[in-house]
Amino acid sequence: MRVLVVGSGGREHALVWKLHQSPLVKEIYCAPGNSGTSKIATNAAINAEDISGLIEFASRKGIDLTVVGPEAPLIGGIENKFSKKGLKLFGPSKDGAEIEGNKAFAKSLMKKCKIPTAEFQTFKNRNSAVEYIKERGVPIVIKASGLAAGKGVIVAYDFDEAFRVVDMIMVEKKFGDAGKQIIVEEYLEGEEASAIAFTDGETILSLLPSQDHKPIYDGDKGPNTGGMGAYAPAPLIDKSLLTKIEDEILKPIVCGLRDEGRLYKGVLYAGLMITKDGPKVLEFNCRFGDPEIQPILPLLETDIVEIMLATVDGRLDEIEIKWMNKFGVCVVIASGGYPGSYEKGKKIEGIDTLDELDDIIVFHAGTKYERENLVTSGGRVLGVTGIGDTLKGTINKTYKAVKKIKFENMYYRTDIGAKGLGSVQQITNSLDN
Ligand code: AMP
Ligand code: GLY
Repeated sequence: MRVLVVGSGGREHALVWKLHQSPLVKEIYCAPGNSGTSKIATNAAINAEDISGLIEFASRKGIDLTVVGPEAPLIGGIENKFSKKGLKLFGPSKDGAEIEGNKAFAKSLMKKCKIPTAEFQTFKNRNSAVEYIKERGVPIVIKASGLAAGKGVIVAYDFDEAFRVVDMIMVEKKFGDAGKQIIVEEYLEGEEASAIAFTDGETILSLLPSQDHKPIYDGDKGPNTGGMGAYAPAPLIDKSLLTKIEDEILKPIVCGLRDEGRLYKGVLYAGLMITKDGPKVLEFNCRFGDPEIQPILPLLETDIVEIMLATVDGRLDEIEIKWMNKFGVCVVIASGGYPGSYEKGKKIEGIDTLDELDDIIVFHAGTKYERENLVTSGGRVLGVTGIGDTLKGTINKTYKAVKKIKFENMYYRTDIGAKGLGSVQQITNSLDN
């Protein structure tokens, strides 16, 4: 088979890496890809959002399966356009992807399907939003309904801040049309986790539960990023909690989408807050989580191509998914200054020393080759992923690998996976040993 992966981040490198291992795959392309994917696939210089360019490429190269990484092309309708041309694509259709692209729609469907989520109201009018916030009190969460490059969700801890945020989104239109409608919702307390599943619109097959680390600093302090590291499986979600999440969240939303005539095929990601009253949905995404997928995919034993084909063909009930009995830990190395401004073009050293290790994989995100040298080209630069038998051992092994990599102003969190060990203290100790 000839396979095309769309996207250019750590998630897409991890997908290319996994697909490359399938005996069913003969040739693999990545558009636009990165310097990591270029080693195992052929990169094609086509932007992930250039749907007609991708269709032309897939037709010309005789691509049998296209796998989409990021949300933008899915929300833009890439699946519909590919299937019109008879091209097979792994990912939901435009109306399914709305579950991520339109938060107001997602919340109303959750309400209709009685899926546990924060109490909320949606607003198109600034004054009504302000009145509701006064009524509900703070802290409170304000979300732009549309896609806002990961910046459209703000937790406000006092009234002044809350009103400022409403004005920023609705009056100053900081996120443009994405902020035409906002959601004001109850602030939830608990621990966050990610539940990701394959679905063909009927059957759902969960991936290992994981936890991302979104804030930039240790101890979940500072501004949110795309994700500074992740690990799986997360002990917070044991077997019985996962069954509850499948029964009360994943199956009902897939069923709710189907009932609306939106048959959802692909991967569905529930961002959850595990509260004292049980799991509640913060958001749904129509794609694999990044970095979550980096520690998850190396643990997958079943051929990913077979799962993806069964998903697209609507026969996921025939698949039994198998996982290694191990842990995966991914530490993201970022450019100093990220998620704010940062410098690019820093020479990266030390990756080659990790090549011969079987249990460490370095996924590239923001890197490129400049005159034979590997240099930084983005905020999140690398995802160093380790696999091992125990969580503690895997964390240690991964950080040992991270320390072999050097570039000017590199930054990473030192507590990835600590949540799974029970406390931040424990990991600090274990790393010192
Ligand atoms: P989202 O993109 O909706 O997942 O939100 C981004 C981040 O904002 C989440 O990862 C949470 O840390 C935080 N967040 C979102 N909704 C809530 C909520 N209702 N209560 C507390 N924190 C939230
Ligand atoms: N890791 C968060 C996300 O992929 O949305």
